[in-house]
Amino acid sequence: MTSTEDENKKINRRKDAYSKEARLIHGEMETPVWDYSHNVVPPLSANSTFRLDSSTRGNMGFLEYAQESAGETEGRPIFIYDRLEEPTAMMLENRLAEVEQGDAALVFASGMAAISTLALSLLKQGENIVSHPTLYGCTDSLFREWLPRWGIEARRVDMNDLEAVESACDDLTRLLYLETPLNPTLDLMDIDALSGLAKRLNENRSPETQIRVAVDNTFQTPWGQRPLSLGADIVAHSLTKGIAGFGTDTAGALVFGEDLKNDLLVARKDLGGMLSPRATWHILTYGISTLGVRFQAQQSSAGEVAAYLERHPKVSSVRWPGLESFPQKELARRQMVDSDGAFCPGFMIYFTLKGACDDTIGQRFVDSVAEEAYAITLAVSLGNIRTLIECPYSMTHACVPEDAKGSVSLTPGGIRLSVGLESPRDLIRDLSVALDTL
Ligand SMILES: Cc1ncc(COP(=O)(O)O)c(C=O)c1O
Repeated sequence: MTSTEDENKKINRRKDAYSKEARLIHGEMETPVWDYSHNVVPPLSANSTFRLDSSTRGNMGFLEYAQESAGETEGRPIFIYDRLEEPTAMMLENRLAEVEQGDAALVFASGMAAISTLALSLLKQGENIVSHPTLYGCTDSLFREWLPRWGIEARRVDMNDLEAVESACDDLTRLLYLETPLNPTLDLMDIDALSGLAKRLNENRSPETQIRVAVDNTFQTPWGQRPLSLGADIVAHSLTKGIAGFGTDTAGALVFGEDLKNDLLVARKDLGGMLSPRATWHILTYGISTLGVRFQAQQSSAGEVAAYLERHPKVSSVRWPGLESFPQKELARRQMVDSDGAFCPGFMIYFTLKGACDDTIGQRFVDSVAEEAYAITLAVSLGNIRTLIECPYSMTHACVPEDAKGSVSLTPGGIRLSVGLESPRDLIRDLSVALDTL
């Protein structure tokens, strides 16, 4: 048995034996690319450029980069320059691929760097994406404002209407792009059904003209939903949110099957949205290793806060996928689950206040939170250990056109709450003070 086979056997033995919590904390300590079995914490390798043993090996590194044959010519990896590939990023990529149940992952300087690289790598001029009438504000703006400049069309249909999705697809469709739960209204899309539709449409298509399914899994994180296991081809993340968790770093990732890796590697190299090793190290050390415990505690508090809001006489509607009143509760229970099958309704809440004809009510409410609250912070972003509140209509989704906002009931009074690690008692106290001011 070669030493690489021996290593892989050891790694596989570890994988089978341990729970998801242990795997998130420890990952692969010894691989043919890195070995930190003698370190408690993974090392931070902060190099913009790497020493090459000879010009022949340098040439080999460039020839092998993003090729099928990579690593076959000589056993040792050849690192060249940090934007191409670097070991700390590879450790995080390995951990993300495992937890999302993908073959491979790549990290990026932001969620938007990941999503824009995906679009520009998969689509050419004349081709199109099919997606929902609204998405997270900057993804929406990328699809609406920028992709058309490169001759790529983003068609919008209700992704819960499978017939409408099928009619929107033609020979030049290359991507179904979903965000589920949708930011901020928490509408869900059926990943299994849409992946099944893409599979059926792909039956008579050549490999180059296949329709891929990509899912933005930022709200749920891989702890609470794994789209690849439901048939999707690609998962996109803003790691800035629940995975990094502490609000210290901006980052993104894509997770996918082996067949997409080389194109995405080259696209990341040339478009340049690589994540810095220092940000990677933070996410690896503090973020991903604590994901499970944070997700579960935040989700449990979100349940208490959602129930409180639903009972409050000044609140007109509350969306949290764990509530009996949640409109897509059957789909939520089917697809929002951890890897042991337990339901994960998540830590995001969207609610509206009574007095809907008063367009300023949401803003007045969050202004009161900004002034009076201690445990709730008025700020965009989500998945943070701190509870964050905002008005998506006038803030994160301000650039979305009115008719698109209307089609998903994104109203001026809507409020997005990302529940953190504070005690739910303190969150309810702050919400109740702000509600009393209305
Ligand atoms: C659902 C979703 N996707 C993508 C992004 C973009 O991520 P980033 O801010 O890391 O570029 C965000 C940011 O808020 C988001 O909420």
